[in-house]
Amino acid sequence: MKVILLGPPGVGKGTQAQKLQQERGLRQISTGDILRQAIKNQTALRQQADDYLRRGELVPDELMLGLIAETLFGAEAPRDYVLDGFPRTIPQAEGLDKLFAQHGVSLDSVIQLSADPDAIVSRLSARRTCRKCNAVYNLLTNPPRDPLRCDACGGELYQREDDRVETITRRLQVYTKQTEPLAEYYRQRGQLKIVPADGTPSEVFQRIINAIGG
Ligand code: AP5
Repeated sequence: MKVILLGPPGVGKGTQAQKLQQERGLRQISTGDILRQAIKNQTALRQQADDYLRRGELVPDELMLGLIAETLFGAEAPRDYVLDGFPRTIPQAEGLDKLFAQHGVSLDSVIQLSADPDAIVSRLSARRTCRKCNAVYNLLTNPPRDPLRCDACGGELYQREDDRVETITRRLQVYTKQTEPLAEYYRQRGQLKIVPADGTPSEVFQRIINAIGG
């Protein structure tokens, strides 16, 4: 099964992608996590990606398409996966369609998570992420037992640099301009399903399962 999760920053894509991985065996492919890992490991990609993430801007399409082609069709390609944070522009969606066609692969579902912008800012401001295993917490709605340590692996919890209020605002603007048009792109293909992202993560997860027919 191949699923795309769309939606604004902080709507809960990563939280739901992790649940789909843990409970349904779909590999979470988060382009944000891949880029942050490259920056941490100081790979060549770091030079190109670091500034964009810091400013809340999108990394260029060509770079992202190369990265996704290697991840989805390289030596360690997964069979079933959920794309979390890709595609993010129309050229990325078109590039993905071409890759799928070249490899004879078809997309099963595109899920658009929707939430109130105020809820998004509040969710992002209180987010904490594990440096080691990328588990996602929220100091208000899903607090870790120890605010500095991951419940799952004991790794250090940190606040993402792009979760400062001014960068959140920029990310939301970028989303509206560059990513929101994707909903129409997939709606025209009859692939879009809109899922409200309010309620608990488990409630949202159940709606996603119903939408993908799992
Ligand atoms: P990325 O890491 O993909 O960030 P994003 O899309 O902005 O999304 P977030 O990770 O901020 O939020 P989320 O929707 O996953 O929410 P989460 O589950 O964590 O991208 C970062 C950057 O990388 C981009 O700005 C760009 O520069 C670059 N990039 C990445 N992909 C790219 C691409 N394809 N092209 C170009 N550039 C790219 O939840 C948020 C918080 O809410 C958490 O604290 C969580 O615990 C809490 N929460 C979740 N669900 C609920 C709920 N139901 N109720 C209450 N709280 C909840």
